[in-house]
This record gives sequence, structure tokens and C-alpha cells, in this order.
Amino acid sequence: MSDQPRSDKATGDEVRLLGLVIEATSADMDVSDVVQRVANLVTEATGSDVCFVHLVDEARGCVVLAGATPPFDEQIGHVELRVGQGIAGWVALHAEAAVVPDKWQDSRYRYIPALRGEDYASMVSVPMLIPRGRRVVGVLNVHSKEHRDYGPYDLALLAQVANLMARAIENARLYQRLAEREEMLESFAIRTIEAQEHERRRLAGEIHDGISQRLISLWYHLLAAEDGAASADAVVVTRELVVAKELVTAALDDARGAIVGLRPTTLDDLGLGPSLESLARSLPVRDVSVDLQTVSLPPHVEVALYRIAQEAFQNVVKHAGATRVELSLRRDDEGVRLVVADDGRGFAEDSAGGGANRHAYGLLGIQERAELIGARVTVRSRPERGTTVEVLLPDPTGPHRHPASGSSAAASDRATP
Ligand SMILES: Nc1ncnc2c1ncn2[C@@H]1O[C@H](COP(=O)(O)OP(=O)(O)OP(=O)(O)O)[C@@H](O)[C@H]1O
Ligand SMILES: [Mg+2]
Repeated sequence: MSDQPRSDKATGDEVRLLGLVIEATSADMDVSDVVQRVANLVTEATGSDVCFVHLVDEARGCVVLAGATPPFDEQIGHVELRVGQGIAGWVALHAEAAVVPDKWQDSRYRYIPALRGEDYASMVSVPMLIPRGRRVVGVLNVHSKEHRDYGPYDLALLAQVANLMARAIENARLYQRLAEREEMLESFAIRTIEAQEHERRRLAGEIHDGISQRLISLWYHLLAAEDGAASADAVVVTRELVVAKELVTAALDDARGAIVGLRPTTLDDLGLGPSLESLARSLPVRDVSVDLQTVSLPPHVEVALYRIAQEAFQNVVKHAGATRVELSLRRDDEGVRLVVADDGRGFAEDSAGGGANRHAYGLLGIQERAELIGARVTVRSRPERGTTVEVLLPDPTGPHRHPASGSSAAASDRATP
């Protein structure tokens, strides 16, 4: 390389080198591979004898040998200089190139036995700069055995290579950081789900035990009340019924806790259909009819449908005064359809959602749960004509013939069960 006007060949070499550097720095490889490949390319293309690439370790305030042409590649990771120390350290500190025709005459030079400085006469050292903030990420050095005057052409070429490398290294580091963060987020998500599952199972167990205990106590207090009634002891009957009422209230509180977000263990034990059937059969209603198909649904959809049915049944118990309840879960040509219908007292449209009762969350909750799983809810009711809650989970592959207007929480006049 020289400072003279360049021949076509020199220009061709330059273009070839930059092409190879771009290729090396664009490939999907890690920083050390990029550095090593570029060191080899630069040595060859600049007609130098050896090339060293030092990377800046900002945290430790030093430059570390990260790439070198053989035989010095064995020293990678073992040679380091403080920022400001030696020529590479000086370049890292000042973000400026250093052209050194005779390093023994240069006060900045520092002899490193492992790099056999005695074998090389001249060198040039350029910073690898990130344009924004002129941050130095490394230093690129080429050395020649013979005395040589590296000129502006060499400097310009090396500066271009160094800057390409700087960007590649920065990108590789950013990519690595991103990959680490993504991995961290992924493991965080997995741990969160595991923790949630663990917590849900633990709570479900606790609540189950809590409710069971209360029901057992309730049983004994009712027996005692029965005995009191048999012996016409009104004091005993009253006392036992008071305790029984308290137990029922406490059990209901426990049950509410269980309803909030916990997966019912019955779903794991029995599956959706039988769990719904067991809910329906426990209703204090004379005539319960059940029509269930086995449908295969994701666990979160099962939980949502179970909770929806549970709330619909609670409403039957609390409000309907029904003599007949129908439960059906079937897949038809529109999707999976869950229906809970009663023949009770029903309600008028303006009382839907609780009417004046601002603390009524049941129908709203049904609506929200349905939305979360992409299902549509229709509530049909008329005073003294019963109530029907219908949830349609559209088949993602099937025709969607269900009218969009059917998604409102209550449509009291549209139909009767
Ligand atoms: N099956 C039903 N039969 C008769 N009325 C009903 C029925 N379902 C709901 N309702 C009426 O709709 C209202 C709203 O029901 P919703 O479930 O939202 O509230 P809630 O049951 O009163 O309170 P919460 O759900 O908070 O326990 C009820 O208060 C009731 O008047
Ligand atoms: Mg309710």
C-alpha cells in the first residue's frame, strides 16, 4: 500500500476487501468470529504481516486482544492493555488513528513479549468507532516486518473496515443482549405460570378443605337441631340453627373465594361435562334435565364455561324460584353451545345486570368471561316466563352465522325459553 494514485487493481482489491468485510460482518455469527475473520482479511488485503483486533472492555477500562492472525490467535483473550496504555490503548482513549513508521521511536509504544514486537517495524492503529457519540468499541492494528510508511490511502481503507466492524460488533452485542432479554422474559413467563399454577392448586386445596370442614360441622349441627326438634327442645334447635346459619355464610364466603379465578379441581378430576352435570344435579330444583356431549376444549375455555354455568345456576337458585332447569352442552354447526334455561320467574329488561342492584356482577362476569374466550352470550328472559343463558363459542373453522347483535348481556324480549 502506498500514497500514490491507485491503480485499477488497487481499487479492485479495496472493493473486494470491503465486500468481504461486509459479508463477514453481516453473517449471523458472534463477535469473536467476526473479529477473527476480519483480522485475516485485513492482513491479506493491506499486504501487512499481522493484524490485531483489540476490543474495549468499558467496565474494566481496558482493551483486550479479541482477534489476531496466526500464530497470535493463541493469545486471544490473554493480552490486555489499560485504556491509554500502549498504542492500542492510546487510540482507544483518543478515538484517533496512530500511524507509527518506527515503533521503537514512539513513546506510546509498549512492548508485549507475547506479541513479539521485536519482529515488526511499522504499524498503523485505527479506532473502531460508533458514529453516535464517537464511542470506541475497539482498535484495529496492522503491523509490517519491513519498515513501511502507511499513508492516507491505508488509513482511509482501515478506517472504513474498522467502522464496519464497529457497527457489526455493536449489532452483535445488541442482538446478544436482546436474545438474553428475550430468554429472561421467556423464563420469567414460564416461572410466573408455574407459580400461578402452584398457587391455584394450593388455594384450591385449602378452599376445598375449608368448605368441606364447614359442611361437616354443618351436618353435625343440623343433626343436633334434629335431635332438639325430636325432643321438642326449642332452645337447642334455635342454638344449633344459628350456628348452622353462620356455617353456611362462612362456606359461601369460601366458595366465593374459590370462584374468583381458581380452576375447579373437579375439572381436572372429571372433565367439563360431568363437572357441569354435578353442578346441575346439586341444584335444589325438582326437575333437572341434562344434555351433554363430550367436547374437547382448551383448559382455560373449560374453566370459563364452568364459571359461566356456575353463575347461571347460582342465579337460578337465588332469583328464579324454578321447578325445572335444563343444561345442555353441544357442538353444532356454529360451534360449541352451552345453555342453562329455567322456567322461573324471569326478569324484565330494565332489571338486567341487577337493575338497581349496583353490586350485581354475575351477568357482567358471564359477559366478560365469554369475551375472553371469544364466545358470545345471549340472555333471554321475561317476567314469569323463565330465563335462558346461552353461550356460543364459534367454531374457528365453521360458518359464523350467529348474529352480532346476539352478543349483548341481556335481551329480555327477544325470546322466551
Ligand atoms: N335465572 C334468573 N331468574 C330470575 N332473575 C334472574 C335470573 N338471573 C338473573 N336474574 C336477575 O338479574 C339480576 C342480575 O343478575 P346478576 O347475576 O348480574 O346479579 P345478582 O345475582 O343479583 O348478584 P351477584 O351475581 O353479584 O351475586 C338479578 O339480580 C336478578 O334480578
Ligand atoms: Mg348472580
